[in-house]
This record gives sequence, C-alpha cells and structure tokens, in this order.
Amino acid sequence: MTATTSDIEKAAGVLRAGGLVAFPTETVYGLGANAENPAAVARVFQVKGRPSSHPLIVHIADPRRLGDWVEEVPATARLLAERFWPGPLTLVLRRGRRVSREATGGMETVAVRVPGHPVALALLSAFGGGVAAPSANRFGSVSPTTAGHVRAELGDAVDFVLDGGPCDVGVESTIVDLTGDAPEVLRPGGVTREDLEAALGRPLAVPATSRIRVPGQHPSHYAPRARVILVEPEKVVAEAELAQELGHRVGVFLPPAFAGAPVKAHAVVELPASTSAYARGLYGFLRELDQRGCDLIVASLPEERGLGLAIANRLRRAAGPRPSD
Ligand code: TXA
Ligand code: MG
Repeated sequence: MTATTSDIEKAAGVLRAGGLVAFPTETVYGLGANAENPAAVARVFQVKGRPSSHPLIVHIADPRRLGDWVEEVPATARLLAERFWPGPLTLVLRRGRRVSREATGGMETVAVRVPGHPVALALLSAFGGGVAAPSANRFGSVSPTTAGHVRAELGDAVDFVLDGGPCDVGVESTIVDLTGDAPEVLRPGGVTREDLEAALGRPLAVPATSRIRVPGQHPSHYAPRARVILVEPEKVVAEAELAQELGHRVGVFLPPAFAGAPVKAHAVVELPASTSAYARGLYGFLRELDQRGCDLIVASLPEERGLGLAIANRLRRAAGPRPSD
C-alpha cells in the first residue's frame, strides 16, 4: 500500500511539529526528524536506543540545496551528486551551520543524501527542510525494508509511518567521505564501488573487509537475534546439518549453486542468483529466520563485486562479536 498525497501532507506536518516519521527510501526505511530541531533529533536517538555520538544522515529533496547544509561543495561532491542523486549514495562533507549539532553527533562533518524513492522525495519536498534519519530499527539490529518491519520493531514510538512498499535496493546507502585528501568509502552500499570508481576515474579506498570474526574488529551490527556463522559456500550444508544434530535450530542461507539440495535443518532460505535480488531480500531473510525460531544461521559470503561487497559487509557485521561476548 503506497502512501497517498494526504498521508504525505500529514507526515510533513508531523515533522514540522517536531514529531518522528518513518518513511521509505530505495535502500531501507528511515526514522526521520526535522534536522534543525534538536529536541526532535534527540528523540530519534532515544527511540532507536542509539548512542548520541553516532551521527545521522540528513536527507534533502534537491541536490542543488546541498550547499545549504555544508560549509562548501567541493568539485568531487558536485560530480558524485550529479551522477548518483537521487540515489543510494551519502556524502560526508564539512558541516554547515544549519544542521543541528545533535544530528551530527557533535562532529564537524555532516552526512547528506538525496534518496531515490518517490515517497521520500514527496515527503522531503512537502516538508521543505532537511530530515535527519537513521535506519528505522533499534540500534544494532537489522534495518527494516518494509513498513511492516518498522511497525513490528518500533510500534507506537513513531508518530507516523509512511508506507511505500518494500525497498528496492535493500541495503543501506554507500557512504563516501570527501573531507580527506582522497575520497574514502566508509560503508559499502547501494552504489557499487565499481560505479564510483568509474565516475571518479580513479581507484577508491575501501575499508578492509577481508578479516572474519576478529574479536573487536567487527562489532555486531545489522544483526538478527540468531547467531550468524560464515563458512565456505561448499561447507554450508554440512556445517548446518552438524549444528542441527548438535541441537541448534539452524537456519540456512543456501547458495544458488546448491538450490534444491535437501538440507536437514530447521529452516532454509534459497538465495537468489542475482546479487540485486539477494541485496533486496537480505534483511527480510534474516528477519524471517528469526521469526521461525532459528538460534543459528549458517551462511557464506558472496563474491565481493558490485552489490556483493555490501552484502558481505553486512553479513560480516551480523556475524561479529555480540556486546555480551
Ligand atoms: O540508506 C541509508 O543510508 C539509510 C536510509 C534511511 O537513508 N540510512 C542509514 O542511516 O543507514 P544509519 O544512521 O543507520 O547509518 C548511517 C551511518 C552511521 O554508521 C553513521 O555513523 C554514519 O552513517 N555517519 C553519519 N554521519 C557521519 C559523518 N558525519 N561522518 C562519518 N559517518 C557518518
Ligand atoms: Mg542503521
């Protein structure tokens, strides 16, 4: 069910009044507040249970208004904005005065993006200002990709939920930091590294993602309730069956190469062969296995090209040590 014009007007009114609106973007649902209202932004942190030092992304409707939110717009920012906005790219720049300190977690930089979703753009245009929004989930858990996920997780803590159907990309935006000597990818996401490199005409620094389960390196984030373990693709079935025999309720992310293989496990998700379909489904699959009562999820990493880089990054984080470890 897609939001109507009157839903959008109502949501814009809620933002103006200092309330919180969950809204669809092409990546995941966001939990939005007026970026210029410190009290509203403080409530976002409270509802999410997120430390206030973790900055939020400011969402705007019009790329030409980027200059309102940052100290200056460097040529690289202009180039990337022109090429990828509206779309799943977030740019980190030196902050302008307009954005509240609460939204940037006290940092001197600000993250800005123009989302590529008609409902998000309609909301931002109707509201007129910037909307500070993290993903609409509790801190550390899996991002929501449907309005139903938001309602299940945040319920009455949100003043209004705009429904725009399931998110098309399914993983969060790519974050590129433009405040250093060279652009740096802080989080792989919906815009691929390959597309960014082609636009920039040079290779990009991306944080090392090759180490698996090094304690303290990949604190758990984007995590379902069930534990996630990562194994080689050809070992997924054997490891899952072993864990099931040992008494776990095992959920399996079955790689496409093994489609149709019988697996003695509690629940099996047959992964789609296309990485864009995998990205779109990823968080829903994790939620589904939680809902089906799995306590362990056995998965493998996809090839780290295109959207596979973002999927692998989220799986590693989901498999990272939990706060209680
Ligand atoms: O696709 C997305 O980016 C979604 C949708 C709703 O737009 N938003 C999202 O927000 O994923 P969130 O808050 O869950 O993740 C934003 C990330 C956080 O890890 C935060 O630390 C980082 O962006 N971030 C925000 N501002 C930053 C800044 N000034 N410098 C470095 N990192 C920043
Ligand atoms: Mg998030």
